[in-house]
Amino acid sequence: MSEKPWGGRFEAPTDKFVEAFNASTDVDARMYAEDIAGSKAHAKMLCEQGILMQDDLNVILRGLDEIAGEIESGEFTFSIALEDVHMNIEARLTDKIGDAGKRLHTARSRNDQVTTDTRLYLRRRTDMMIARIRYLQSVLVALADEHAETIMPGFTHLQTAQPVTLGHHLLAYVEMFERDAGRFLDARKRMNQCPLGSAALAGTTFPIDRHMTSDTLGFDAPTANSLDAVSDRDYIMELLAAASICAVHLSRFSEELILWMSAQFGFIDLPDAFCTGSSIMPQKKNPDMPELVRGKSGRIIGGLVAILTIVKGLPLAYNKDMQEDKTAVFDAFDNLEGSLRIFGDMLPGMRVNQDVMHKAASSGFATATDLADALVRAGVPFREAHAIVGKSVAYCIRESIELHAMDDQACADIDERLSADMVRSLSVEACVASRNHIGGTAPEQVRRQIAVWQARLEKYHA
Ligand code: ARG
Repeated sequence: MSEKPWGGRFEAPTDKFVEAFNASTDVDARMYAEDIAGSKAHAKMLCEQGILMQDDLNVILRGLDEIAGEIESGEFTFSIALEDVHMNIEARLTDKIGDAGKRLHTARSRNDQVTTDTRLYLRRRTDMMIARIRYLQSVLVALADEHAETIMPGFTHLQTAQPVTLGHHLLAYVEMFERDAGRFLDARKRMNQCPLGSAALAGTTFPIDRHMTSDTLGFDAPTANSLDAVSDRDYIMELLAAASICAVHLSRFSEELILWMSAQFGFIDLPDAFCTGSSIMPQKKNPDMPELVRGKSGRIIGGLVAILTIVKGLPLAYNKDMQEDKTAVFDAFDNLEGSLRIFGDMLPGMRVNQDVMHKAASSGFATATDLADALVRAGVPFREAHAIVGKSVAYCIRESIELHAMDDQACADIDERLSADMVRSLSVEACVASRNHIGGTAPEQVRRQIAVWQARLEKYHA
């Protein structure tokens, strides 16, 4: 007979490589605290319901606490022969306390146990993720406050489009991260139901109290359908979708920082502590952290694709394929949390070259739309104004000058409705200041938004 907890009907031992291939301890051992909390809640409920004797409960609770201590102090060795965190802890409990340990698994299966543990673990990690997002937001709001009036070129197609304020640009990311936090919170709500009691798939013959375990573990309610509860991995899909979108936001931000730090842009310099050099080119200072964060997004999105694909063809209820769920989501959470931390720590040390940004915003005809708007205000239909300014730009390119340097003659030659006064009054300061409405880039609006964010993020000080 095999020595496995499930070995009763087996005659031959498990193949050695199968044992290693089958084991998930390297991934799920990190859920030991949740596994122990789940077992304690389950045991207390069994006792309350008269399914387990009080004496047994007492030794079980003590034994589980001791095991937590053994794991924390590094004394505990996880065995791959015992497959996963659940059977390792249960086997150790029986080693320590004998028969009482063998009664713990009454009215329970690893199928409801594993998804309970995973929900509990990811709930905690989701809260940490949201806190990281909040911190990064508050860093960005502080930076935006410093740069509410700093002018830089805004781009479309990575071509100079219109001037914007750096504060406005940074607040764009605060909005994105707000939606990211919202997605995590939303997923957390749906995830927070307790599968315990679903047992293997159909429920149990014992008179369990599912409300009691649900309440003890801080869930909102017991899950309503046992088959669904042990099969559902929607919560992992949702969390990975939220993580992927957040990673994509960080990746876009990374791309901008990398561009801005290049010699060609020269807009910013990132702190030395977040950059690395080259082993051959002595002059190099590379923005490795944003690059790595940009790369991590690929890996996190990979996790989302993995979980969707793993679950796609699975019949109800539990299938072993599901063991692969944790690898994907744990890896994504580790890497996203790390990326958020890097950004939160790196950005306060970013040096902004305001002069270079201002100069870039003042060239490349970033004020052209404003000149067209001035013509419209003088009664010219917008499409005609567009054409007049287009011709003016072509003229300036030929002459290698900026729009505001056009003289009376040049203006009159292009169109009688265009005047040197109009072009002279163009300035990047006026451009940003005049976009003064909800959502606009004017410093006044940026400051208004900063005040809103400061109040909202008060609890999460940068
Ligand atoms: N290690 C397994 C997992 O992560 C736990 C559940 C195993 N259940 C089973 N019936 N084999 O999915």
